[in-house]
Order: sequence, then structure tokens, then C-alpha cells
Amino acid sequence: RQNARESLYIILNFAKNHYQHQLYNTEEGQAVGLSYFQERGFSEGVRKKFELGYSLDNWDAFTREALEKGYSAEVLEKAGLLIHKEGSKTAGYDRFRGRVIFPIHNVAGKTIAFGARILKTDKSQPKYLNSPETEVYHKSDILYGIFQAKNAIRQQEHCYLVEGYTDVISLHQAGIENVVASSGTSLTVEQIRLIARFTPNITILYDGDIAGIKAALRGLDLVLEEGLNVNIVLFPDGDDPDSYVRKVGAEAFKNYIKVSAQDFITFKTQTLLQDAGNDPFRLAAVIGEVVNSIVKIPDAIKRQVFFHRTAEMMKVDEQMLISEGNKLLRKLH
Ligand code: CTP
Ligand code: MN
Ligand code: MN
Ligand code: MN
Ligand code: MN
Repeated sequence: RQNARESLYIILNFAKNHYQHQLYNTEEGQAVGLSYFQERGFSEGVRKKFELGYSLDNWDAFTREALEKGYSAEVLEKAGLLIHKEGSKTAGYDRFRGRVIFPIHNVAGKTIAFGARILKTDKSQPKYLNSPETEVYHKSDILYGIFQAKNAIRQQEHCYLVEGYTDVISLHQAGIENVVASSGTSLTVEQIRLIARFTPNITILYDGDIAGIKAALRGLDLVLEEGLNVNIVLFPDGDDPDSYVRKVGAEAFKNYIKVSAQDFITFKTQTLLQDAGNDPFRLAAVIGEVVNSIVKIPDAIKRQVFFHRTAEMMKVDEQMLISEGNKLLRKLH
């Protein structure tokens, strides 16, 4: 087991170096990959820090080189780098072709997977291709950027959570290093506990679209249950942290976060209230939903603060909320 994992780390590290080499030292890599990163404004500093690379637009450029160096097709496949069709006589073909490469690191800094972006988005291909689940990569356990962020998170006692690879990279370039990405999926308990190893304070910076908001709401109860303090900032519709920080600059970005951060329960209450309008049945459902979230908070004092705050927002009696909450709490324990 240990040996199997070790051989995956070795091939993944080889692949990471290969993709970096293709980016800087081939004509195609420079003309296509490097100019893509430059157009996005990624400096050499962040390109190196995140070990960004490029995979040639070729069926098996990587596989051929790896086989030549003595790596086995079996290990390549187990690492998620080689796609081999059952019954095919050839070794197979490269998973990542003609894409810019974002290595994904574990907390210790080892490469465990890759995200790969096409250069021009069109509807015929997914924008990002990612490594499959492997023996060393469990998507739901990891956050992109945690290795590069962990010291800053500890130092600042705060973690920003964004959706995408490029959000993490752009924020580093703007001098904001305490940031990790959920990579477009809804948060898992494992990911939250990973952050909690370094800080209890999270600010969610999700994309300013409906999907972003929904994704943020889904993660909420989990985060509350872990006893973390959660705030949220939404960006103007159509913007994400990457596009926004490039538009307004680092200082204005930080100021925007400062003035628009909302605690998550207030945010949830507001969002649900807006959706419900004046319909009394839907309002009643909102009250139930909000109480449900509040009782997830382990700390009794914090719960009290939120009963008080949300009772005012929903224009209902605080004692009623508390007694509903107490009923739920008795059920939970
Ligand atoms: N994602 C993915 N597969 C897709 C689309 C998205 O894995 N087909 C993940 C990626 O981790 C991506 C994140 O979800 O970084 C957020 O998606 P999105 O906001 O669409 O992409 P951005 O990160 O903003 O990428 P870009 O700025 O390059 O368009
Ligand atoms: Mn797992
Ligand atoms: Mn983006
Ligand atoms: Mn985005
Ligand atoms: Mn009160």
C-alpha cells in the first residue's frame, strides 16, 4: 500500500516537471500556454509558486516520454495520467492534451492531481478536466492551494474560500495568500476540518451568480456544525475574485471585502426572506430553515446572538424562535 502510493507520488511529480518543461521550453508551450497565462496577467512569481504547466496538443507526448523513462503504463493509469481503453492494443493516450495545467498539492506540498483548462472555451469540451479519484487523490478531502496558503492562514487567523484555481492564484498575486479553493464543488466535512486545522475563521468569496450563492448556502450547516465562524462576500454578478481583483486592484478589493462581508446566518436569512416575499407559508418555512441552521452552532452564546438578530430580521418573537430551537436541540441530543 505504502509503496503503491509512493510510486504514484513519484510519477505525479515527474508529470508536474514535464508539464512545466513543456510550458517554458517548447515552441507550442510558449506560444500557446505561456501566452495564455501572460494574457491572464499571471506573473512569473505565481506561475512558479503554483508550478503551472502546459500539456502539448498531442495524443501521447507525455505517455511516450514517461514510458521511455521507465515508468510503467499501469502506474501511469493508476495516477490518472493515462487513459487506456479496455481491449485496446496500444498503451493508451494522455488524459491531458492541449491544456494549461494546474497541479493540485496536498498539505505537505506533494503533487497529487491536476486540473487542466482548455485555452478557448466552447461548448464542445468541458472548460476544466481534472484527475480522476486515485489512491492519493480524494477530491472531497482536499482544497486547492492549501499548501501555499497554510502559513498565511495560521498567521492571519483567517481563511478565504473561493471557487476556482485562478481565484487562488490571482489573490496570491495581489498579496492575499490565505486563500483556498473548493474547486467548484460543494464543501465537504473533510474540507472544512482541513481549514479548521489552521483557523476557525472563514470568509467565503464565491462567484456572483445564482450557482455561486446556492453553492455557498449548501455548505453552511456543515461549517456551522464544525463550530467555525463564517462570513460571506458576494461579488457583483458576473465577477469572481480573480476578475474582480484584476478590475479594481488589491487595495479596493480588500476594502470591498471589508465593507460587504456578512455573517453567514444573516446572509442566509436575508436570501431566504427575499425569495419568500409575502407568502405566509413560505415565511413560516424560512423561519424553520433559519432555526435549523442556528441550532447547528455548538456554542450557546453564539446561538443566542443569532436568535436575537434573526428574530428582528424576520419580525417574529425571539422567545418563539428560542423555544423552537430548544425543541430541535433536544431532538439532536
Ligand atoms: N470546475 C471544474 N470543471 C468544470 C468547471 C469548473 O472542475 N468543467 C472547477 C474548477 O476547479 C474551477 C472551479 O470549478 O476553477 C470554478 O469554476 P468557474 O468559476 O467556472 O471557473 P474559474 O475558476 O473562474 O476559471 P476561469 O477564470 O479560468 O474561467
Ligand atoms: Mn476520501
Ligand atoms: Mn474566473
Ligand atoms: Mn469563477
Ligand atoms: Mn435578545
